[in-house]
Amino acid sequence: MGWFEERGGLAGTVAVITGGAGGLGEAVTADLAANGVRPAVLDVDGDAVTALRGSLEEQGRDAIVRQGDVRDPDALAALFAAVDDRWGRLDTLVNVVGGTFRAPFTDTTPKGWDALLRANLTHVLHACSLAAGRMRAGGRGGSIVNITTIEAHRAAPGFAVYAAAKAAVEQFGRTLAVELAPDGIRVNNVAPDYAPTANLAKLSAGDHALSDPAGIRVAFPMGRVGRAADVSGCVVFLASGLSSYVTGSTLHPDGGTHASSGWFNWPGTGWANHVPMPVLEKLAPED
Ligand SMILES: NC(=O)c1ccc[n+]([C@@H]2O[C@H](COP(=O)([O-])OP(=O)(O)OC[C@H]3O[C@@H](n4cnc5c(N)ncnc54)[C@H](O)[C@@H]3O)[C@@H](O)[C@H]2O)c1
Repeated sequence: MGWFEERGGLAGTVAVITGGAGGLGEAVTADLAANGVRPAVLDVDGDAVTALRGSLEEQGRDAIVRQGDVRDPDALAALFAAVDDRWGRLDTLVNVVGGTFRAPFTDTTPKGWDALLRANLTHVLHACSLAAGRMRAGGRGGSIVNITTIEAHRAAPGFAVYAAAKAAVEQFGRTLAVELAPDGIRVNNVAPDYAPTANLAKLSAGDHALSDPAGIRVAFPMGRVGRAADVSGCVVFLASGLSSYVTGSTLHPDGGTHASSGWFNWPGTGWANHVPMPVLEKLAPED
């Protein structure tokens, strides 16, 4: 066993991953499994569930992969019960599910707000409540990781309720971390910015600046957009013994956008927190 495996201590542990069959969740499941973690996944996408089940079976992994909606408390409870029956332990919970639509707040309705809160916040509370009791009873501690977003840390015009819900997850996680710390159960957040997945591509459709190398260099200090592995690597670290004294924290796998917060690397003129004159002069007056 190498240094990482030994210090990581992940082999043989058990993780529940909501939304673990597609997008960023698929990378989280694959990378935890590659480190010997037995994954239990609940995902609403039937095709992704079938594909993940097949690939884990092919690799000979011991796994539970179910199709279901994490917003349904019964489906969530049934997954945790299946984990109890199969393995009798729970070490890690990764809350991946979340999402949004773009609209000015004044164009949205209570129905839309409720949908966003259910998609981004309520199921996290349910899953954490199901996990915490089990981890406490297991007496081995545990790790809870919530995937939030940079929008929980800055204004996000067009995404007000999503930003609010993710900020609530962030703050919930921080408080839960303190409440559960005496039991050795750690709670942390991972806040990506832009790591294109199939569903995210729909949201940013038409915004070519995010696929144009020059546009990417302006917006992302590291000069590239995120990859799923940038996020899953953080999750593996937070699930592992390498982060055994880290709780109530947030990792920002975003290539520096949270740090730069509004500063852009403009071609020719370099860093500025406003549009530089040469760019401004090229815009038509009506722009
Ligand atoms: N991709 C990014 O750049 C990015 C950036 C910031 C934050 N995030 C956050 O990361 C998380 C994952 O993002 P993503 O782009 O991979 O999303 P995604 O839409 O690809 O979803 C990931 C997985 O969750 C599943 N899922 C969605 N709703 C579900 C539900 N109700 N019940 C069960 N499974 C469900 C999907 O089927 C998919 O397999 C979200 O919480 C999102 O807010 C993503």
